[in-house]
Amino acid sequence: METWPGTPQKPVLSTVAGGTVTGRGLAGSAVAVSTAKGGLMGPEPAAHVPVMLDRVLALFAPALNPPGAVLVDATLGRGGHARALLEAHPGLALVGLDTDEEAIKESGRLLARYSGRVTLAHAVYDQIADVLARQGVTRVQGILFDLGVSSPQLDEPGRGFAYSYEAPLDMRMNRAQALTAAEVLNTYPAARLARVLREYGEERYAHRIAEAVVRARARAPLTSTSQLNEIIRDSVPAPARRSGGHPAKRTFQALRIEVNAELDVLARALPMALDALAVGGRIVVLAYHSLEDRAVKRALTARAVDTTPPGLPVPLAEARPQFKLLTRGAERPSAEEVATNPRAASARLRAAERIREAA
Ligand SMILES: C[S@@+](CC[C@H](N)C(=O)[O-])C[C@H]1O[C@@H](n2cnc3c(N)ncnc32)[C@H](O)[C@@H]1O
Repeated sequence: METWPGTPQKPVLSTVAGGTVTGRGLAGSAVAVSTAKGGLMGPEPAAHVPVMLDRVLALFAPALNPPGAVLVDATLGRGGHARALLEAHPGLALVGLDTDEEAIKESGRLLARYSGRVTLAHAVYDQIADVLARQGVTRVQGILFDLGVSSPQLDEPGRGFAYSYEAPLDMRMNRAQALTAAEVLNTYPAARLARVLREYGEERYAHRIAEAVVRARARAPLTSTSQLNEIIRDSVPAPARRSGGHPAKRTFQALRIEVNAELDVLARALPMALDALAVGGRIVVLAYHSLEDRAVKRALTARAVDTTPPGLPVPLAEARPQFKLLTRGAERPSAEEVATNPRAASARLRAAERIREAA
């Protein structure tokens, strides 16, 4: 295994199952992913179904067609989108990031057939600039963010992401970090906990749930998703329990966002990603709840407007937009896609293209 120098907080190149990653830098040729046995090892498990894949491919096509194009997949997951993009563009080099070490290991295995074109980094996506700098890459032609949790993360009971499984209260995407959902639930004062549930889960009964958590943990620390489910069920009035989806959905979303600092990291990462795009380069972002989508909309439109101060007689050359939006509002998956992949239901896609360098 090759590890980049620095502290454990730095992005690291990760091993692929049974093999190694060798770093030679994208500038010369892409960092190679190789496996001990060579080629793709074993059957591909039923994995994450990439969301709005046809639209993602179509949006990236003009930017990624030229040979030598580089795409950053900031949320590699099981490499579903990445694999389709590598197939569609034989000259494409891919830099894949994921904060979840399992995702890096597994997608390394799944992408082994593209060895020579793929660099994998166990990194948080607000480290994009650092990852690219370490590869000697200054500008890229595409950046994909497919936010949120992957199906394997949701479906692995031990991760604690899903309210439908009995599991420890974990919810960390990066299992090396200290903060877990149990820590949040067992240590945050009621008011802070209620704010997390209200702001990140848009939970109407945030205060009641937070108070009930504090009462329960005074007896014994909360340890399992079933304990939390019970507290939520007892805190939400019966009529509200029967409408608006599973009553635990909003609380679980809120805790996941808090544990992984998702909105803070996204707010730092998006401007960094836009800065990394070459002229003609494109960014595509899939968001899965309104808070994420709002942050994406804000970051993209901020670069797609003229920032000449009001009152000036002529627009300033340096204030001209650097990006043009490729989507009108947020695009949604088709009814057919949602019917076959219900996890696509909440997806909102936005995209933009760099049209000029910053002044
Ligand atoms: C929806 S999945 C991506 C699925 C992928 N597009 C595919 O087709 O297989 C989102 C992935 O982003 C990762 N992730 C979430 N937050 C992250 C962050 N801040 N930095 C890097 N990766 C992150 C998760 O661990 C997860 O694997």
